[in-house]
Amino acid sequence: MPTSFLSRSVFVIALALIVAAVVFFGMNYLNKPSSSNNARALIGGPFSLVDHNGKAVTEKEFEGKYMLIYFGYTFCPDVCPTSLTLLSDAMDIVEAGDPELAKLVVPVFITVDPERDTVSALKDYVGHFYPTMVGLTGSLEQVSAAAKSYKVFYQKTEAEESSEYLMDHSSITYLMGPDGAYVKHYSHGTSGEIMGASLLKILKQ
Ligand code: NI
Repeated sequence: MPTSFLSRSVFVIALALIVAAVVFFGMNYLNKPSSSNNARALIGGPFSLVDHNGKAVTEKEFEGKYMLIYFGYTFCPDVCPTSLTLLSDAMDIVEAGDPELAKLVVPVFITVDPERDTVSALKDYVGHFYPTMVGLTGSLEQVSAAAKSYKVFYQKTEAEESSEYLMDHSSITYLMGPDGAYVKHYSHGTSGEIMGASLLKILKQ
């Protein structure tokens, strides 16, 4: 029965097209607003901490500037020094590209180990990495609240051959905009070249 076969084929093809269209537009709809808008809503927010000069600061201190934020701790044997070196390399690239744009970015190191990372410990530490880097510490509660708003995980662990403890922690660098909202993040191990080029591109927009 050719007619029935034909109409059934047309029906099947039409159905397949409809399904494909729904999937295509559905994916488009889901993809578009999700990554940036959700992250804007979910990452960052108000914080109340103490800087490496002992001054109480909130997110308002950084209004009008981009913050390049990394959470870590000064006793960290490897991950933090490596990440902060990459972050500083990126800042050097921005500085070399346009010194005026570099002034718009404040590299911020927020400790997840406020018990050992006192104001003076942070002051010694951040200066090694970048001249304008700001170190932030605070009470256990203040640090916990800041880490929570940036979705940063951390916990104490025992060091194997030492009485000193270590901290497991997320290793992500966040770029927050002049309005304090999330702009972008750089995953662990992003090279200074890639981060620097990305920052320059964003700053020039
Ligand atoms: Ni670390």
